[in-house]
Amino acid sequence: MNNERIETLIEEAFAARKMAYTPYSHFQVGAALLAKDGRVFTGCNVENATYGATICAERTAVTKAVSEGVRKFEKIAIVASSGDYAAPCSICRQVLFEFMPEGKVVLWSELEGEKEFALTELLPFGFRGEDIK
Ligand code: THU
Repeated sequence: MNNERIETLIEEAFAARKMAYTPYSHFQVGAALLAKDGRVFTGCNVENATYGATICAERTAVTKAVSEGVRKFEKIAIVASSGDYAAPCSICRQVLFEFMPEGKVVLWSELEGEKEFALTELLPFGFRGEDIK
């Protein structure tokens, strides 16, 4: 994938971040999920007064896509309001692994730019559906 495409994906994550609902943490996250068919699904974090019912930006994006019938992804870009790299939480890693076990995760920092990881670097030996016997 060319750099221009990655830059666009990051910009889409920035746009999504603007919609974050974060009255509790004030930490806004945006994600842009690239499907294998070329479509992009974005997401932001949506917090809740119970805290535990909060949904992260990454899972918002995955849920939007899956509920529209799209299940295969190749990459997700994530940007946080801190301006620093924000690695996906463990639950999001596992959810991403379900739909893009060979996918890539692009993180962004104001000072250092983008950094790309294989999801399996962030989640080695992840649990797979095939493991259910
Ligand atoms: N958050 C995300 O949206 N993605 C992550 O992977 C890490 C955490 C959100 C959840 C919560 O709204 C805020 O960041 C602080 O944890």
